[in-house]
Amino acid sequence: MAEQSSHATIVVSIFGPEKRPLRRIAALGIGGELMNAKTNLKTNSKTTPKTDAAVVVIFGASGDLTQRKLIPALHSLACEGHLPEKTRVIGLARSPLTDDAFRQRNFEGVSNYARLKPDICERWPQFQQRITYMAGGYDDPETYRKLAHELSKIDSNQKIQGNYLFYLATPPNLYPVIIEQLGKAGLNRPESAKNGENWKRIVIEKPFGRDLESARKLNEQAHAVFNEKQIYRIDHYLGKETVQNILTLRFANAIFEPLWNRNFIDHIQITVAESVGLEHRAGYYDKAGVLRDMFQNHLLQLLTLTAMEPPAVFGADALRDEKVKVLRALRRGPRDVRAQYEGYFSEEGVAPDSRTPTYAALELYVDNWRWQNVPFYLRSGKNLTAKTSEIAIQFKCVPHLMFPLAPGKDITPNVLSLCIQPDEGARLRFETKRPGAGMSTRSVDMKFQYAEDFGEGVLPEAYERLLLDSMQGDASLFARSDEIELAWSIIDAITAGWEEPDASPLTSYKPGTWGPKEADELLAREGRSWLQGCNAKTGG
Ligand code: BG6
Repeated sequence: MAEQSSHATIVVSIFGPEKRPLRRIAALGIGGELMNAKTNLKTNSKTTPKTDAAVVVIFGASGDLTQRKLIPALHSLACEGHLPEKTRVIGLARSPLTDDAFRQRNFEGVSNYARLKPDICERWPQFQQRITYMAGGYDDPETYRKLAHELSKIDSNQKIQGNYLFYLATPPNLYPVIIEQLGKAGLNRPESAKNGENWKRIVIEKPFGRDLESARKLNEQAHAVFNEKQIYRIDHYLGKETVQNILTLRFANAIFEPLWNRNFIDHIQITVAESVGLEHRAGYYDKAGVLRDMFQNHLLQLLTLTAMEPPAVFGADALRDEKVKVLRALRRGPRDVRAQYEGYFSEEGVAPDSRTPTYAALELYVDNWRWQNVPFYLRSGKNLTAKTSEIAIQFKCVPHLMFPLAPGKDITPNVLSLCIQPDEGARLRFETKRPGAGMSTRSVDMKFQYAEDFGEGVLPEAYERLLLDSMQGDASLFARSDEIELAWSIIDAITAGWEEPDASPLTSYKPGTWGPKEADELLAREGRSWLQGCNAKTGG
């Protein structure tokens, strides 16, 4: 069941003055390399990856994700010419719906949520013709016979050649049965096609399990039918342009990497704050809580990208190998905080005695040479003052200040803030001399904002990138099985610790604040405080 890769790996590597390695690679026949004579920077002039025409089959097509994210993302991709004309979409769910009703529902989704709405892009009339709907039970073999028949009809009419992307957007308890039935119907096996082998891939939405044991089981169930290279586990944070930019900032600039270690960095903060509450998802959320919902995936992904070593090439396995090494080296600090917002009980669907945390702040350490003893503080919560996701890298203070400090003022450290959302960009805070007499200093910011440099609305939605990558066979921005399992083992250890008799208690916080006072105390103990580098207006 070899997976056909539709494009080559990107090679980006930095060579010293010696030119021998370049000649060796050229001799191996790796093409498209350019060399800048002045800098000896070897890059790759890789062409745009090829997207094969395929059928995208969405399971759970009557749900919110399809309407708000998946179809709008496919529509924006079509608008920008990224989808081959022959691409087809089949929505599959239990409820009976006509093709037209399904299209109408998705038109509303595209009109409300797409980056490129129908008033900007006039492709909807043609695009909707490529969307059809099929009703069927997920555990009913008949559904899959009908699906296989429909797919082969499309293959022969459209000459799509049997490339299928199965997207699981159902409740997670249905993943095993859908995977099993796809296998039984033979829809998992690539076959020989005109241009070599065609491909069959499966995209699995989060949550991927609810602990290590269930994630392992789901991995086993998936591996019984699909091989690892066919499986794309979604973490939509990896699809965010600003998250990918962590790698560019670190590894395409010479000035940050020499400082990116324990010698220069005091600590790192990762904040993913949300102003929204449960949004009618109590049934899921009350059983999951903030650690499973946000930390196991999004926050740990941000941490690994910030802490990992540079891989030699930008390729799915090289990248994920480095992330896995970080997860292996991760250690829980002595303290953490968990809290629930006041009034959580009165939310519809929440158990009256629920002890589910809606906020957590963790102190973690990466036990390796680069990061020994550098705390990584992670926090996330619902119903907070504002929505903001950012990574703050606080550097060490200068060892001695020759300028006079105002009474009661401390030396201010430099902070690099990577602004994931909503004000996407980066900021570097540094000290400058106040104009005028004397030598007093003040902090100022050097700012980069996507909107200013690239224009408004240029950032693709995460799902656009992830859908396109999965159609191109690039799994770099998807979680591998070992990565998922390691992340769960870290979360399991923390949740188990919270059950211990000496664990710190669940505390509470007022909606609309930045969380419980205990989270401030967690940092204050070490003379630190939470930073708001990306949106100074929101306070901290
Ligand atoms: C999801 C969580 O994975 O991410 C939600 O299940 C959360 O609870 C959402 O609201 C946040 O995503 P974003 O992209 O809005 O930060």
